[in-house]
Amino acid sequence: MTHPYLAVGDTTVAQDTLLLVSDLVLRFGGVTAVDGLNMRVHPDEIISVIGPNGAGKTSAFNCISGFYRPNSGDIRFLGQSIIRRSPSRITQMGMARTFQNLRLFKEMSILDNVKTGAHSRMRQHWFDAFLHTPAFGKSERKCEEDSRFWLDFVGFRGDVDLYVTQLPYGEQRRVEIARALNTQPKVLLLDEPAAGLNHSEKRQLIDLIRRIRDLGISIILIEHDMGLVMDISERIIVLNYGKEIADGTPEQIRNDPLVIEAYLGASEEDK
Ligand SMILES: Nc1ncnc2c1ncn2[C@@H]1O[C@H](COP(=O)(O)OP(=O)(O)OP(=O)(O)O)[C@@H](O)[C@H]1O
Ligand SMILES: [Mg+2]
Repeated sequence: MTHPYLAVGDTTVAQDTLLLVSDLVLRFGGVTAVDGLNMRVHPDEIISVIGPNGAGKTSAFNCISGFYRPNSGDIRFLGQSIIRRSPSRITQMGMARTFQNLRLFKEMSILDNVKTGAHSRMRQHWFDAFLHTPAFGKSERKCEEDSRFWLDFVGFRGDVDLYVTQLPYGEQRRVEIARALNTQPKVLLLDEPAAGLNHSEKRQLIDLIRRIRDLGISIILIEHDMGLVMDISERIIVLNYGKEIADGTPEQIRNDPLVIEAYLGASEEDK
């Protein structure tokens, strides 16, 4: 099977900065969920965002991927400001994400769920779809081929025609990552991908994240599993009450007194 990622025409990630978040602020009423976040993501990087529950990690992701509009600050992706762009437009530009609570289409098969990733980037004319023209048939075949490729890539070995809800939770997480990859991203945001996975599934996830990065896709990971974060991250950003309190290598973060106080020193049930 050909590698669909290599088919991407646009390889304009030569600049050193892929994503630049500046002074990002997001408020919900009296709560400042994100309080002046700055973040720079380079090509081919694995970054983790950590912090206690309610620190603002998911809120930051929701701003970056266009689901929430920040109160102030800027987000530049591939050199362009994206704070006024819709989630689907941002996906088309090359940013994909998964959700803390899975958001798969329950009434659809595994294969069809992954196909929606490709559809989000394809430009089809309604009359091609309506009349089932040869162009439509060709792009549908390519879409199915890509979808099967990504399911294989994430390690899914089951029956792709089952409803997605027939799968165990860990397998559903894989399908969601396959769907995100099928949008042909340059950066992939993963919100707690290890939540609910067993030990061997976590090992497979670490391997998968590395293989995704080896394709030239940057990864931003929100994760509570410290073993996984320390193992895989090149850089870690720590949030607490919406503010960034540290940014460094796993070694620097492990030894940062502010981090130990805010997060690593917290009791297990606080994490
Ligand atoms: N839609 C919303 N409406 C109101 N408040 C919200 C909303 N989403 C998040 N918040 C609040 O914003 C703050 C940050 O929440 P967020 O979900 O971003 O934290 P998090 O770091 O992802 O936490 P967790 O580790 O539990 O997922 C919290 O105080 C939360 O209650
Ligand atoms: Mg969250």
